[in-house]
Amino acid sequence: MIVVTGATGQLGRLVVEALVKKVPADQVVATVRDPQKAADLAALGVQVRTADYNEPSTLVEAFAGADKVLLISSSEVGRRVPQHAAVIDAAKAAGVSHLLYTSVLYADTTSISLAPDHKATEELIRESGIPFTFLRNSWYTENYEQSVAQSLDFGAIVGSAGDGRVGGVPRIDYAEAAVAALTGEGHEGKAYELAADEPFTYAELADAIARISGKTVAYQDVPADQHRGILVGAGLPDFVADMLVDADRAIAAGELASTSGDLRTLIGRPTTPLDEAVAALLKN
Ligand SMILES: NC(=O)c1ccc[n+]([C@@H]2O[C@H](COP(=O)([O-])OP(=O)(O)OC[C@H]3O[C@@H](n4cnc5c(N)ncnc54)[C@H](OP(=O)(O)O)[C@@H]3O)[C@@H](O)[C@H]2O)c1
Repeated sequence: MIVVTGATGQLGRLVVEALVKKVPADQVVATVRDPQKAADLAALGVQVRTADYNEPSTLVEAFAGADKVLLISSSEVGRRVPQHAAVIDAAKAAGVSHLLYTSVLYADTTSISLAPDHKATEELIRESGIPFTFLRNSWYTENYEQSVAQSLDFGAIVGSAGDGRVGGVPRIDYAEAAVAALTGEGHEGKAYELAADEPFTYAELADAIARISGKTVAYQDVPADQHRGILVGAGLPDFVADMLVDADRAIAAGELASTSGDLRTLIGRPTTPLDEAVAALLKN
């Protein structure tokens, strides 16, 4: 039995959809906080079980009979370490033989502000003694959805990453990687650095938007303080603005790109090219 947590999330849905193409649906358990949001998953034939990271007893029940668990990191930043600890404890209690975790690129060494939760989770998983795989994801290209849409109106993508490169790919690439690690052999004890084959600069992102949309779009690089002010002025909460400015700092430092080739190897195909990712964002 393969359990996927966070299954009603954007990545979780893609994982479950890809998983049922590889294994019988009745061998898949989707854990969700709100089963009312999971009708599409139930329609695939998977078992939908209710589990809340904040209620450990629900996790223990949801993991009954599980061989493998994919822990998709929680979106509740600030609460993630105790939440993930509860998942790890429940996996241990259920006798899970393989625990996979969606982490962040270079979790153990990166300076990105999102990393400490992931690093702490990886350490807890190692300490648990459960055979593990760390799926250290880079950025989602979907993170640029709003910027791409706005760039058509303003003629510019604004950021503070300079000419840094980001190894972003669409969520589907990370979902397929998770499915490959869940269904393949020999992934225990590995930490995969998952990123685009060809990381891109924001100038190249702007060029791709311009090429595909037929509109004039350029990259405007601004100092971090100004970038933050623009994001807050556009209505983003302070903590989100801080996170995005910090991500651009990490991109400038090369911390969201990787030449490992791990993603390409896991999914057995080249990673989704930037033009394809941008075309998908422009369709939305
Ligand atoms: N690499 C990147 O660029 C990037 C960007 C954003 C986020 N992330 C990380 O990757 C994860 C997956 O991304 P995503 O796009 O799928 O995010 P998402 O759509 O926000 O999904 C997050 C999932 O976590 C679940 N969750 C949150 N709190 C929970 C709780 N207390 N108990 C049980 N489930 C809980 C949510 O449940 P509901 O469906 O009920 O809300 C949802 O299924 C995120 O949670 C975040 O840690 C990575």
